[in-house]
Order: sequence, then structure tokens, then C-alpha cells
Amino acid sequence: MNSTAEVEIPRDPLEQVIGQDNAVHIAKIVGHQHRHLLMVAPPGTGKSMIAQAIAYHLPKPTEEISVLHNSANPERPALEVRSLKQAEKEKRLETVTRGRLVEPIEAPSFVAERLGFRCRKCGSLSRAAEQACPKCGLDKRFSENPFPNIYVGVQEKAERVHTTRLLDDNSEEIIVYERAGEKVRILDQKSMEAVEELKRKGPRKVLVPFDRKPFVIATGASETELLGDVKHDPYGGHHQIGTPAYQRVVPGTVHEAHQGVLFIDELSALAGVQRYLFTAMQEKKYSITGRNPQSAGASVRVDAVPCDFILVAASNINDLPYILPPLRSRIKGNGYEVLLETAMPDTPGNREKLMQFTAQEIRKDGKIPHASPEAVHELCEQAQRIASEFDGEEDALTLRFRELSGLIRLAGDIAVGKGAELIETEFVREASTRAKNVEQQLSEKYGSVWRASQEEASKTRGPQKEVG
Ligand SMILES: Nc1ncnc2c1ncn2[C@@H]1O[C@H](COP(=O)(O)OP(=O)(O)O)[C@@H](O)[C@H]1O
Ligand SMILES: [Mg+2]
Repeated sequence: MNSTAEVEIPRDPLEQVIGQDNAVHIAKIVGHQHRHLLMVAPPGTGKSMIAQAIAYHLPKPTEEISVLHNSANPERPALEVRSLKQAEKEKRLETVTRGRLVEPIEAPSFVAERLGFRCRKCGSLSRAAEQACPKCGLDKRFSENPFPNIYVGVQEKAERVHTTRLLDDNSEEIIVYERAGEKVRILDQKSMEAVEELKRKGPRKVLVPFDRKPFVIATGASETELLGDVKHDPYGGHHQIGTPAYQRVVPGTVHEAHQGVLFIDELSALAGVQRYLFTAMQEKKYSITGRNPQSAGASVRVDAVPCDFILVAASNINDLPYILPPLRSRIKGNGYEVLLETAMPDTPGNREKLMQFTAQEIRKDGKIPHASPEAVHELCEQAQRIASEFDGEEDALTLRFRELSGLIRLAGDIAVGKGAELIETEFVREASTRAKNVEQQLSEKYGSVWRASQEEASKTRGPQKEVG
């Protein structure tokens, strides 16, 4: 082995997770069985990585969620959940409504004439955009009035011509010819029925499309982000100038995560919003309504919008008490709570895994060179030091990978600065000296962090301002 460039990185993101065998095992079950998962661990141990990997293994979504205009009551847009099959059927229907486009010469001559392609005097065909026949000069815009006794004047050229056709069984079929630019659109009975059917359904807004990421991150603690909203409209949904209610419906992250993973990084940060979460988890549906009572969206509601997601949540050990008990019991009742590891035994096998980790980090970064085997050995020494410093674990390698990946990047930058082809042992050592955080630097300079802050405070205490 010459460098980490030769390390093979598994394609499966779950196999890229190092040192968390138990959590990975449970993550597989969570994905397969559609359970929930709470991971408890310090930062940088792979919680986000595992959450994403669960989503990676899920089958493609099979349902699409839309809201449709409801003409009987626009403030209660209709909900529609379509399967792939249904959506495909309706797509075919749409193609049918587009009919068949033909050249004017393929249309019956009386149709071509009425649509403004054919000259009624000389019979030559020309563009409908041309008003006069280029051959004989006759004004094509008007056709002869078929009922001169009733109507005065002439009849203007038509956009559509209705005809009937006799079928084999002696029944009649209506055929419509429509002018479509310089072409003629032929709509038969079937396509017109399709138009009618689509018209009956009315316009739609797709809230959650088929083609979506099965991994949704809920970041903020806001109700609207989690549960959706109906936007305000200054015209209050006035039927002519306002935006129709169904178009103002916005899904929440619980809906966007339908059939996928909803990842919440700091579960306790959701505070009171947690209770909506467990209702959503229980019902697997949550209505969308305008959440600002002052807004015109507040009168709009779509009931029971599906939100069947896998909750994958993360928490620090210290924040566990701030997770609502009913939410935890919901997770436990239909899923798993798992404590991640912070260190693994220092064995040759695990050192090999750190080699894989180094290769992964370098590849992910993309801007630093690979590492020599000796440099990886030095990284393992550092991993041992961190395990001892942070977790008091001897003969162990840390799994607090944020520290370690910081070290790799720093060593990589040093290598780049020196124009080196590989990350070498000395760069890792230099990086580790530089990487000391501010607290470590302070305690080296002042003796302790506390002493440092005392000294700084005495220096910066200037003239006090009177407040009152
Ligand atoms: N167990 C792990 N195995 C491999 N790489 C890891 C692991 N944990 C963290 N990392 C690396 O550190 C980065 C941050 O990890 P992340 O999954 O966001 O940690 P957390 O969510 O626990 O804070 C990851 O993108 C990955 O590069
Ligand atoms: Mg994370």
C-alpha cells in the first residue's frame, strides 16, 4: 500500500459508517421495517450520516400528493393522492387531449377553407396568417355567408370547425378541427371526452411530487416549517385578482418526508413543536391550514394530508430530559433508541478502518492529497490521544470524527502549501499542534481558561456607563 488512494471505499453509505456496528445494524432494520430511530451521541460521530444512509436504502416513493381547486368551496381544496399508475393514466389522457396535428392539406377542403388556409375562389392553400390569397388576391379572412337572408354581411374565419363522421355501426362521431398556428388539430370524440374529464377535475398543485428526495431535514422549530401553511393573499382569494386558495397551500416537512426519512438533528430544540410531531407520527396524516390567524390563509384548510415518514432524530445526552416523554414513548413503541459509541478498541482491524475513514475524508474534501501509510499511522496515534483525552479511554481509538477529520484537512492544507504529493507524518503532527482549540491555547498561555478570563476582564474593564 503506497497511499490511501488505493483504499477501496464501499458504495453503500451505511458501510462507510465506521465504528458504529450496533447503530448500523439497527439502522438497517429501521429502513426495512419502517420504524423510528433516536440516536444519542456527541457531535461528529455519524448521526447525520446514518440518517442519510437509511433514506438511501428506501424504495422510491409510490405516492404523489396534490391539492385541487374545489369550485364548490375554494377554501377547502380537494386532496388527491395518486399512485404512479393513476398518474400515468392521466398523463396518457393529457396526450389524448392534445389530439393529432396535421398539415392543412390533410384536412377536408371545406375545413381548410373555414380555418383560413384555403382560398374559396381558386382553391390554393396558403398560410392562415396571410389575409389575402397569394395566388388570386381574394381576402381569405371572410367566407361566404351561408345564410344571406338571415345575416347581413360576411362570416369571419373560424378557429374551430365541428363536423360529424358516420361510424361503421351507423352512429355519429363528432370531430373537431382546430386551428393550431399553421397546423390543424384534430380532436375526436375520445380526446374531447378526455378534455371534459380533466376539466371536471380542475387545476392542481402538486405538493409532494413522485420525484423527490426521500431525506428531509427539519431544521427550525417553527410550526409552519414542520406542518405546512397556507400563504397570505392580500386579495383574500378574490376570484379574479387573487391567487386561488389551492395554489397557496404549502406542505410541511412532515409531508415532504412522506414515504421517506424525516431527520431532526437536535430533537429537543423543537421544544413545544414536538407535540405536533408525535401527533403526525401517530395519525400519519396532518391537515394543512394557514397558521397565522391574521392571514387570509387561516380560513383555508386541507384535511388529512398524508405524512407517513420514518422519524430519525438525534440528541445529545444532556438534552434527553428536554424530549417530551410521549414523543420518546412513540419512538420506543415503534422503533429504537440507540446510544452511539465514542471510541473503539485499538486493534489492527480498527486501525484499518481508520485508514478507510481517512481515504473517505480525503475523497470527500476533494482539495487535499492522499495520505501515506505512515501518516495514517500517526492519525491513529492522534485518535488514541483524543480517546484518552475526551473519554478517558486507554488503548482505544476515538470515534469523535469531527476532530479527526479536522486534523486530516489541516494536514492536507499543509501538504498543499508545501507542494507535497502526499500527506506525511510530519504534517499530521504539525496539524495537531495547530488544531488545538482556543481553550487549550488559553490554558497553555495563562495556566487555565478561568485565569485567562479573569485577566482579560481586568484589562478591558473601562469606565462604567451609567444605565438608568
Ligand atoms: N462513524 C463515522 N464513520 C465515518 N465517518 C464519520 C463518522 N462519523 C462522522 N463521520 C464524518 O464526519 C462528518 C460529520 O458527521 P455527521 O454524520 O454529521 O455527525 P453527527 O451528525 O453525529 O454530528 C461526516 O460527514 C463524516 O465525514
Ligand atoms: Mg449532524
